Amino acid sequence: MSSHFQGKSFLKEIDFSKKELETLIDLAAHFKYLKQKNIPHQYLQGKNIALLFEKTSTRTRSSFTVAANDLGAHAEFLGKNDIQFGKKESLEDTAKVFGRMYDGIEYRGFSQETVEGLAKYSGVPVWNGLTDDWHPTQMLADFLTIKEQFNHLEGITLAYLGDGRNNVANSLLVTGAILGVNIHIVAPKSLQPTSEIQALAQKKADESGAELLITDNVAQGVAGVDVLYTDVWASMGEEETFEERIKLLTPYQINAALVASTHNDQVIVLHDLPAFHDLKTTMAQEIYQQFGIQEMEITDDVFHAPYAHQFEQAENRLHTIKAVMAATLGHMFIPEI
Ligand code: CP
Ligand code: NVA
Repeated sequence: MSSHFQGKSFLKEIDFSKKELETLIDLAAHFKYLKQKNIPHQYLQGKNIALLFEKTSTRTRSSFTVAANDLGAHAEFLGKNDIQFGKKESLEDTAKVFGRMYDGIEYRGFSQETVEGLAKYSGVPVWNGLTDDWHPTQMLADFLTIKEQFNHLEGITLAYLGDGRNNVANSLLVTGAILGVNIHIVAPKSLQPTSEIQALAQKKADESGAELLITDNVAQGVAGVDVLYTDVWASMGEEETFEERIKLLTPYQINAALVASTHNDQVIVLHDLPAFHDLKTTMAQEIYQQFGIQEMEITDDVFHAPYAHQFEQAENRLHTIKAVMAATLGHMFIPEI
């Protein structure tokens, strides 16, 4: 009997079953406990991990680095300007070299095809640290956080407000559909998920019983939900759209009135981060100079409210990324599931 997940890549959620995603979430909770109790868990001793980043990162980079250290592996950061990749050397050639040197590869960047190509040509497990299409490691952390808050996942309803076409929205819709979590994407029509993504998610929802709602009606989208979730209005690489997005998405801001309109006093708020909730960054300052707004997708009072759990969510990136690396590459046995 072989260990489940062994040698597999983690490229997008749709490649995994409900049971598999639940197993990774529960394994992450186990690793969280081990770390809190200072119990060693060096399942990757002697392994070398490449961290390839074409976009910037705080949480994902730190999670892969700390998780690799905790698991006894060495992680090497390879920024897009540090290596030949793309400029002088093709994806295929780079992947073949990486596969001969590293035991596993993390990739964050633009194209989903790049992360799929790295997996195809390297022959080692590849983990998607965010592409334009999907953010799968974020999902494990998000649903772990929800499970910690509510003690279960099935039947929970999450409303995502904002750019409903970005990686996080796509991933929430499909992952919720797989896990049996009801997902509302609340966004203006021009920023709603593509019909392909909706069809993919609906197929999974038919299997799990999750209810999906895509709407531009905020009141309808948030009434009675358990979780409110938002993300930046313009993702990395599309910062030039801020002017248009501010116009389109201001009615979808998570503020105190919107939280109250859920009519659920147990509602929680999540954000994958980084967030535009004050003027303490240079980018927020620039936006303030140009458009006169101090907050975007989430107001500062909501960001600091006791029902906002974005920092637990951020910590859970570490434990969930550790679970993915250990399950796919570690000296550990997971029975067939
Ligand atoms: N949420 C997230 O992926 O954060 P980073 O961009 O900082 O990695
Ligand atoms: N949608 C955001 C997520 C950042 C973690 C982006 O792609 O920039």
